[in-house]
Amino acid sequence: MLLTRLVYTSTISSAFTSDDLEKILEISRKNNPKKGITGMLFFNQKYFLQCLEGSRQEVNATYHKLAKDARHTNIIILDYKEVDFREFSAWSMGYLPESSLTAPIILKYSGLNAFNPYEMSGESAHKMMLELHGNANQST
Ligand SMILES: Cc1cc2nc3c(=O)[nH]c(=O)nc-3n(C[C@H](O)[C@H](O)[C@H](O)COP(=O)(O)O)c2cc1C
Repeated sequence: MLLTRLVYTSTISSAFTSDDLEKILEISRKNNPKKGITGMLFFNQKYFLQCLEGSRQEVNATYHKLAKDARHTNIIILDYKEVDFREFSAWSMGYLPESSLTAPIILKYSGLNAFNPYEMSGESAHKMMLELHGNANQST
């Protein structure tokens, strides 16, 4: 099995409503364990930044499914690679809230002082998620 990591970003669409984040986490935590998918989702009321880890086949299948979801738009893959190990192995889909992204972290990983994942390299986006995860207080 080829272990793969995919990081993408997207923007909420006009179809997104206030209880959708909870619904997305709920369905992800139901589906992902069955597919051997782990990962993290960051959301800041405007952008999603998500990391999916698992077999190449299941990561691709999950990505293609969620890419059709009308609740987000302008979906761009930032990073896709085969990896030796998982970084979010304990998380069927961890959630990183907006509050985890502080001004020093934004400055550290981007050329701007405002968060814009479309302007980030795949490596920066991935490393930023790792740092946010390290700082997160095991929020579910
Ligand atoms: C930003 C975002 C992230 C999502 N992440 C996942 C995910 O990790 N796993 C998943 O199964 N569905 C995810 N979804 C939901 C899918 O688009 C879709 O609604 C769901 O997989 C349908 O599940 P079902 O086929 O069991 O009804 C996500 C949706 C959005 C908008």
